[in-house]
Amino acid sequence: MDKVIREALHSDVVLVRNVAEYIVNSGGKRLRPALLVLSADACGYQGRDHYLLAAVVELIHTATLLHDDVVDESSLRRGRPTANAEFGNAPSVLVGDFLYSRSFQMMVGLNRMRVLELLSDATNVIAEGEVLQLLNCRNPDVDEARYLDVVRRKTAKLFEAAMRLGAILAGADRALEEALGSYGTHLGTAFQLIDDVLDYSGDASVIGKNLGDDLAEGKATLPLIHAMTRGTPAQREIVRHAITEGGLQDFAEIHATIESTGALAYARQVAAEESERATAALQLLPDSIHKDSLLQLATFAVRRSA
Ligand code: IPE
Ligand code: IPE
Ligand code: MG
Ligand code: MG
Repeated sequence: MDKVIREALHSDVVLVRNVAEYIVNSGGKRLRPALLVLSADACGYQGRDHYLLAAVVELIHTATLLHDDVVDESSLRRGRPTANAEFGNAPSVLVGDFLYSRSFQMMVGLNRMRVLELLSDATNVIAEGEVLQLLNCRNPDVDEARYLDVVRRKTAKLFEAAMRLGAILAGADRALEEALGSYGTHLGTAFQLIDDVLDYSGDASVIGKNLGDDLAEGKATLPLIHAMTRGTPAQREIVRHAITEGGLQDFAEIHATIESTGALAYARQVAAEESERATAALQLLPDSIHKDSLLQLATFAVRRSA
């Protein structure tokens, strides 16, 4: 899969290669391609197209990260300065476009309309999710339902697509494809919930990102939303103020507030419930070492510190 990705980055425009290789070579967990390959294998797939599609999914993910770091004004990703910090906003946005369109060139080569449909829909929904999130910024009235709607779109959709694609390649029946897609949706949701917890309580050297990026942007993630519903009126006011203002001046106070209101524990609990739903969705899948790995990933999504 990494070999396919490396070949996909080819361009005679040097800046395209530089920016694309910069972010790809900085690592990342390769979680979405792992899901696709495991899903295909778990469904008994015997061909080799899953490596191509796994690379496509990782390239789409990479494009969203390039754009996301510009929008979020983030300066650290995968333990290195972000592409926007290193090369500037314009190259990041434009090379993100290059990666999106390259991934679609690769998909077209497969000549399977169902695959194209699924990935074009997923990519479109991710973009909507990011725009919805932008609209929610600095709005302290965003509630849990609106937050979860953004999470399902911006993150869970690609997890779902990766799982479905494995099933489609393997020729699995529709019920199994739906079940694996549901695993992806719930796993992706759990994964983003924990990402949002780690944005307050993680270790920057382990997550490879700066803490506080969400607060800096005035993003009402679940830890803040829950602190507002459960906190004292004074605590609610502190959180509302921090969301409306954005910025990191209140980070320590906000961290203490979400800790003492149990909001981080609550977000972890919601993530654990999503992870359980992911696990339950695999009931239809016959036992195999691939299924075991998918089950372990559901646990990892909640326990992870990176
Ligand atoms: C980061 O995804 C964006 C989120 C959905 C939280 P990952 O945490 O999978 O990023 P990499 O690819 O491992 O760097
Ligand atoms: C990332 O959301 C989701 C997408 C890239 C579509 P975040 O903004 O929470 O991810 P990080 O924390 O920057 O990785
Ligand atoms: Mg971000
Ligand atoms: Mg985040």
